[in-house]
Amino acid sequence: MKTLVVAAAAAIVALSAAVQAEDAPFASQIKARQGLMELNALNIGVLAGMAKGETPYDAEKAKAAADALVGVYNLDLPMLWPQGSDNSANPATHALPAIWAEGSDIGAKAENWEKAALAMQGAAGKDLDSLKGAMNDLGGACAACHKAFRASLQ
Ligand code: HEC
Repeated sequence: MKTLVVAAAAAIVALSAAVQAEDAPFASQIKARQGLMELNALNIGVLAGMAKGETPYDAEKAKAAADALVGVYNLDLPMLWPQGSDNSANPATHALPAIWAEGSDIGAKAENWEKAALAMQGAAGKDLDSLKGAMNDLGGACAACHKAFRASLQ
């Protein structure tokens, strides 16, 4: 009986934690932008695999991955990044308050990302050397923004 009560109490705690997570500030924007970032990771993974020779070069797949990266950029609406939706408001996000701080260069970093994604879109379907040539700038654009604006993922 005691075990049952403890188990029931644990279930209630777990349930209320889940409800709280849903109600947490900016929960849906955070979920959506993290999903888009995961999609970026999948697509850049396709390109990186070819650049490193881990998967055979396939012009169509490479082009599709680059198109998707540009597509995400174009979708990346300010509605997903409302002021204050940082990791002090909701621990589910790794976005740092610095994104919205006075003098933040998030806009410049986003522009570099756009430039690199567009360059990859032009290069990926041409040939493997062109893809490789566009890889550093693209990876660098992701990393530069994470370094400045994303809390380290432990
Ligand atoms: C302009 C800034 C910026 C750029 C450019 C950027 N990211 Fe991010 N990324 C972020 C921020 C901020 C977060 C944290 C989002 C959150 O937790 O709400 C993040 C989170 C992520 C995550 C973790 C998502 C999760 O599930 O928590 C992945 C994976 C990721 N980015 C991949 C990429 C890739 C790949 C690129 C380049 C193609 C990229 N990002 C470009 C800012 C950026």
